[in-house]
Amino acid sequence: MSAQNQQKTCLVTIGATASFAALVEAVLDPTFLSGLEANNYTHLLIQYGQDGQQLFDASLQRSLQSNTPSSLQISGFPIDTSGLKSHLLLAKGHANPSATPGVVISHAGSGTILDCLRISVPLIVVPNSELLDNHQVELAEALAEQEYVVHGRLEDLTGALGEVEQIRERIEGKKWPPVNSGVHREARGLKGVLNEEMGWLD
Ligand SMILES: *[C@@H]1O[C@H](CO)[C@@H](O)[C@H](O)[C@H]1NC(C)=O
Repeated sequence: MSAQNQQKTCLVTIGATASFAALVEAVLDPTFLSGLEANNYTHLLIQYGQDGQQLFDASLQRSLQSNTPSSLQISGFPIDTSGLKSHLLLAKGHANPSATPGVVISHAGSGTILDCLRISVPLIVVPNSELLDNHQVELAEALAEQEYVVHGRLEDLTGALGEVEQIRERIEGKKWPPVNSGVHREARGLKGVLNEEMGWLD
């Protein structure tokens, strides 16, 4: 089977507690869909939140009506009460033998971030600027600095996709929690940021 036929999934998750309409809209923008295809993605799966169905449907309609043909398979769901694990594994490419590693794009909730770090699936963290929560930006920056995640910005998610491909092997090779050899100091720093974030579990 050629690389082009292999399933490659981008999972987007906005978390259960807050809505993040701008992220749902951004990942259904025709420009971003083209970016996914350029990076050989075949599937886009969006967890859009309890109140997100209308927004998802409307954004998807808009995209399909644009002139950019897309062969991506796009689907969505509000929340999964059994958790995100199976979806994360799908993005990691572990769900079936013909899959190739993909990516997770997430709001900056520490629960989702930790789940992704634990299974070493490449993660683009997109802080929700509307929440005015500096901790989210701090967390994204601290983790991105050490190449655990890519810090994504709504205006340039396609650029973040490219960045993932550049550091994919390094992300996939990282262990969480960090072993306390050379990265002891870093680990403490990360732990500090994560501890502050813990009230933010989704
Ligand atoms: C996409 O597939 C083409 C053809 O198989 C390959 O040359 C290219 O490196 C792939 N790009 C990525 C980002 O995987």
